[in-house]
Amino acid sequence: MPLHSFRTNDVELSCYVSGTGVPCVLIHGFPFDHTMWQQQIEAISATCCVIAPDLRGFGASTQLQSDGENGVDMLDYAKDILALLDHLQVTEPAVLCGFSMGGYILWQLALHAPERFRAIVLFDTRADADTQQGRAGRLAMADKVVRTGTEPVVEVMLPKLLAKKTLESRPEIAAHVTHIIRAASPVAIAAAQRGMARRPDVRDRLSELEMPALVLVGAEDAISPPDEMRTIAGDLPQAQFIEVPDAGHMTVLENPTAVNSALTSFLKSL
Ligand code: MLT
Repeated sequence: MPLHSFRTNDVELSCYVSGTGVPCVLIHGFPFDHTMWQQQIEAISATCCVIAPDLRGFGASTQLQSDGENGVDMLDYAKDILALLDHLQVTEPAVLCGFSMGGYILWQLALHAPERFRAIVLFDTRADADTQQGRAGRLAMADKVVRTGTEPVVEVMLPKLLAKKTLESRPEIAAHVTHIIRAASPVAIAAAQRGMARRPDVRDRLSELEMPALVLVGAEDAISPPDEMRTIAGDLPQAQFIEVPDAGHMTVLENPTAVNSALTSFLKSL
């Protein structure tokens, strides 16, 4: 695997880089790493330069020591990605793709540095902040995971991540997702939960994002429901909306054929 490692903003980040062409940055969700994009990487690396980092604390990036208590803001993850683009000397505007928590980070990048991105792709994400109840749940989970390890995250998240049909009839996908969650660092999980709990509501800023956008959501997504994502697409000045059949939240794993076809046509259209 063409994995690169570099030091920025006081952490060691690992990043998969492969292919030539338009730079395409893939930001993974919570609590995953860049390997969740494997099937999209295979689909686009013949025509794009794929840049798929492991966010701080996740995957092959260096483990965090103490941010579990303070949390990592979406803007901090975003700054890591800007530093990564500088490190890789990417000067051409990139296509920016974000899955779920990766979408929360995408908003920060696209709002703070719009000149660096020529198009955005939102997978199964949200634009609003957490409710008070959602925030309390995240903080409780952050405390628990540091004390007990990742098993409670599997229990709480797995039923929400996958469509009912996927859970019932595609055990290999459930096993894959479980494996990634179990392998994630409890400190990184706690840090991300605390950061997501205080993420800003960006709904009233979506009209500022004038670049072409593709908005994809699983038809049975229980975390970022289709109606909410349709509204996001409607609030973006130039967005196409696609509801992916036979998928819950993990569209990229549950229906890679539909996702890859939408993504490659969008990239061709730019
Ligand atoms: C994700 O898939 O990144 C998470 O479900 C996002 C979240 O917990 O809000």
